[in-house]
Amino acid sequence: MSEIWTEKYRPKEFSEIKGQDEIVSKVKAFVEKGNMPHLMFTGPAGTGKSSLSLATVRALYKEKWRDNYLELNASDERGIDVVRQKVKDFARTKSISENFKIIFLDEADALTREAQQALRRTMENFTKTCRFILSCNYSSKIIEPIQSRCVVFRFRKLDKSAAFEILKHITEKESLEMDEKALEALYAVSEGDCRRMINILQACSNAKAITEDRIYSVVKSAHPSEVRSVLNLALQGSFSQAREKLLDLMLNQSLSGLDLIKAIQKEIPNLEAEERVRLKLIEKCGEIEFRLVEGSDEFIQLESLLATFMLAGMKK
Ligand SMILES: Nc1ncnc2c1ncn2[C@@H]1O[C@H](COP(=O)(O)OP(=O)(O)O)[C@@H](O)[C@H]1O
Ligand SMILES: [Mg+2]
Repeated sequence: MSEIWTEKYRPKEFSEIKGQDEIVSKVKAFVEKGNMPHLMFTGPAGTGKSSLSLATVRALYKEKWRDNYLELNASDERGIDVVRQKVKDFARTKSISENFKIIFLDEADALTREAQQALRRTMENFTKTCRFILSCNYSSKIIEPIQSRCVVFRFRKLDKSAAFEILKHITEKESLEMDEKALEALYAVSEGDCRRMINILQACSNAKAITEDRIYSVVKSAHPSEVRSVLNLALQGSFSQAREKLLDLMLNQSLSGLDLIKAIQKEIPNLEAEERVRLKLIEKCGEIEFRLVEGSDEFIQLESLLATFMLAGMKK
């Protein structure tokens, strides 16, 4: 595994960016006109913000894209002064063949309000020669004067059909086999974050056949059917069996209490129990998660959760 798949399969063209069709077609229209305002890409991690920025500069400048593109990360650069100096150096020379160059500033929401004011002035000073693409998780953390200078695009988590399309492409290229169950499991554990999804796939890829079980073991997440069976045992009053199975999940599959609470929380809506019972259980999960974060004994807390399940089941 000499290469990281998220880079190997990073989209180079607009058509390779999946699940953000409306955004892609609007950006493409700017490129076709050969003019572009400042842009802001906002939304969760691993949804294609950096990739679309790259596809945009490749489409604008073709093989000369490297001369016309500067990529900065607001949280690694030591402060706004470094960002400003780099922007100045880059923007000073006008692009020889093009009207403007592009600066991609990732994690712009890491900048303080004061730093954002400085960024706003920099954007104004270089507006003749440069366009900015700002990327952030939360647009609400960006000051209004910057937002109003940009066309804002809101990226969504990848939906299932986009995710499957990406997975099918990679598994074909890497000659891997993956059945429908495994695809569903990988989509469920990665929660719409494509970077996470591809990383997990690569971690599972030492065997040719990617199975559902392999995915859950790689991400150290309990198999939903096993969690469901623990919870059902407790609800039906088989406390000692439920406890044994829970211990097995913790010890043999080395899942932490927090991993398990997350898995249990996800399964509650699928349990066959009255609404009132499910609400009570969700409430209890929140309480126990808090105690685990504070450092309580994991097994005692999880046993107490099982007891709650059992009591809830008895009152039916
Ligand atoms: N919409 C998408 N279509 C295709 N691949 C994607 C998409 N979003 C993310 N990826 C994959 O995940 C990796 C990380 O995506 P990236 O564009 O850096 O996400 P972001 O900048 O939103 O955090 C990319 O290299 C690519 O392999
Ligand atoms: Mg990014």
